[in-house]
Amino acid sequence: MKPQNPFIVSGYYSPEFFCNRKNEAARIINALENGRNITLFSIRRLGKTGLIDHVFYHLKTNKKFHLFYLDILPTTDLSGFINLFAATVLGKLESAPEKFIKKIGDLFAGIRPAISFDPYTGMPTLQINIQSTEDADKSLQKIFAYLKQTGKNIVIAIDEFQQIVSYPEKNVEAVLRTNIQRAAGINFIFSGSQTHILLSIFSQYGKPFYQSTEMVQLERIEKSEYSKFIISKFERGKKKISDSAAELILDICRVHTYYVQFLCNRLYGLKNNLITEPLVRETLKSILKENEAVYINYRNLLTDYQWKVLTAIAYEGNAKLITSKDFISKHHLGTPSSVHTAVKSLLEKEMVYKEQDDYFIYDVFLERWLESF
Ligand SMILES: Nc1ncnc2c1ncn2[C@@H]1O[C@H](COP(=O)(O)OP(=O)(O)OP(=O)(O)O)[C@@H](O)[C@H]1O
Ligand SMILES: [Mg+2]
Repeated sequence: MKPQNPFIVSGYYSPEFFCNRKNEAARIINALENGRNITLFSIRRLGKTGLIDHVFYHLKTNKKFHLFYLDILPTTDLSGFINLFAATVLGKLESAPEKFIKKIGDLFAGIRPAISFDPYTGMPTLQINIQSTEDADKSLQKIFAYLKQTGKNIVIAIDEFQQIVSYPEKNVEAVLRTNIQRAAGINFIFSGSQTHILLSIFSQYGKPFYQSTEMVQLERIEKSEYSKFIISKFERGKKKISDSAAELILDICRVHTYYVQFLCNRLYGLKNNLITEPLVRETLKSILKENEAVYINYRNLLTDYQWKVLTAIAYEGNAKLITSKDFISKHHLGTPSSVHTAVKSLLEKEMVYKEQDDYFIYDVFLERWLESF
């Protein structure tokens, strides 16, 4: 069944509802077909997970590949990672649960796995008890040995990969890297949003993952492509949107995928069959009104000073040279070092992000709200 509203705001549906990303998808597919691993990174909500789904959608038609996806954001240690990894990949290539249990029993002898059964599907799942880095290493070796003996081409996407740096165990990167390196025939997509962490994992000389993958930085969707996509989706629904209204949507949202999708979804959901610039502005206004409680809550979570700096960044659009005299005096911010400290904290809280020399507020709707005073 097709979605009622062509502007998807969560998950992936099919290529029809996915805008462009042709080059990025082709590049990733080419890498995987030729045995190269990928690191896919960008700011939040730009479409990394969607792109992985999109790539998988295409690879699924190729029976050669077996595809696995895991989002490791909920994991807090190496043991959690390995158990999620095991639960994701083990048993999925077996036709019958008995075969799987037999294989697992043989393969994991010595590391005391506990097998339980999913109450809904009846499928066996494995719980591995990991006490030390050696246990972790051994378990990973076994899992990879299991995948290898299936003789299949395997792609494993690990989303929110930056999470591994917060694991308390030592040598996490080295343990993972060593096992991944041994895994011939298995290719990986590592994906995440905290660019500086991912760059330090994959591009820092001397680190275990140094230059082990092809780096793909996801950029914004090209404006003219997105505009065409928006106009055609409205047209399909017998709704008309002017070029300038589509452009306005993209400008309001700074071509940030999630926000564009959200605003378009709302506009499409209106009874109006003609989408004009005033209607776009009006709809934005009602979104901001609805979100007000959330924004006020943000304000309560920040110090007054951090909030002031955030507002200054919103006003400026992009805050080039935010520690400059002009900027500081214009917004009454005191000293460069206090601005610096506040910005650092806003970056850590993922309220703002940095692109080249500019700072932006992550949530474009919050930015529009801040600007409205
Ligand atoms: N090319 C696209 N065309 C249309 N919608 C898209 C496209 N890419 C992503 N989306 C939609 O935009 C939203 C954000 O995308 P997604 O969740 O993939 O971003 P992300 O980069 O993985 O974010 P995060 O860093 O928070 O995990 C989703 O609702 C998704 O459906
Ligand atoms: Mg994601």
